[in-house]
Amino acid sequence: MVGYCNGQQPAASLAGGIAPILEADALFYNYAGRSDYALRGASLRLFPGQKAALLGRNGSGKSTLLLHCNGILQPERGQVRVAGAPMTYDRCGLKQWRHQVGLIFQRPDDQLFSASVMQDISFGPLNLGFSDDEARRRVQKAADQCGVGDLLDRPTHALSSGEKARVALAGVLAMEPLVILADEVIASLDPWMRRQVFDIFDQLARQGVSVLLSTHDIYIARMWADRIVVMDDGIVVAADVAERVLANMEELMQYKAGI
Ligand SMILES: Nc1ncnc2c1ncn2[C@@H]1O[C@H](COP(=O)(O)OP(=O)(O)O)[C@@H](O)[C@H]1O
Ligand SMILES: [Mg+2]
Repeated sequence: MVGYCNGQQPAASLAGGIAPILEADALFYNYAGRSDYALRGASLRLFPGQKAALLGRNGSGKSTLLLHCNGILQPERGQVRVAGAPMTYDRCGLKQWRHQVGLIFQRPDDQLFSASVMQDISFGPLNLGFSDDEARRRVQKAADQCGVGDLLDRPTHALSSGEKARVALAGVLAMEPLVILADEVIASLDPWMRRQVFDIFDQLARQGVSVLLSTHDIYIARMWADRIVVMDDGIVVAADVAERVLANMEELMQYKAGI
């Protein structure tokens, strides 16, 4: 069993005393109508510039945890903090969190709701109150970065799944967030696009943006992440540098947290 369960890190590896940018503290969440808890005390810490993979089998609670980290779901117990400040769930608070923490949904169709690509990517910046000029600058930059700069006039419903995924990513990048949560986004992309998205994530990480990518693919985690967080049955069972977690993977996947 890897020693640092439920999101805790040893003090020595706290990135030289740098404070975490995102913290989820012992979150509990129960979907309406379900007898079991989707989150049973899940904790997580993410540091600036970190490339982290959130690994776990289907149904382990990855998407539910990410939805909490972005404020879409509110925990029954526990707390989410961004740059040390507790998340608040009023309109104003949520606007601020979503500016700082961008979530790319598992299904792009849950994310894209405007008629055109341009409208979709500009929604966030305009909603934050940026001028038309600034919104246009951000849209163009994010769209070019994601390789969808020539699709801006296209209707969103007429895009391929890979294009939708990249438009969804561009919509998040246009907010210029501190943290990007990407929920299984890699699965819908061909290998060339995957490489491009990983290059974008790497570039953002070098600029200090934290990226948390959920996946059930150990190979992807091994190839890309410098840190791996493992979920099982609604709880984070390990969080450590990638090599150490992967070395203990078999043991971890058998681990059941007893609450
Ligand atoms: N909208 C929902 N309503 C009811 N139960 C849900 C809903 N979404 C997820 N769940 C349940 O919550 C648990 C965690 O799911 P999820 O967070 O989607 O896991 P993962 O992303 O790791 O596959 C599962 O048991 C799943 O069936
Ligand atoms: Mg999921």
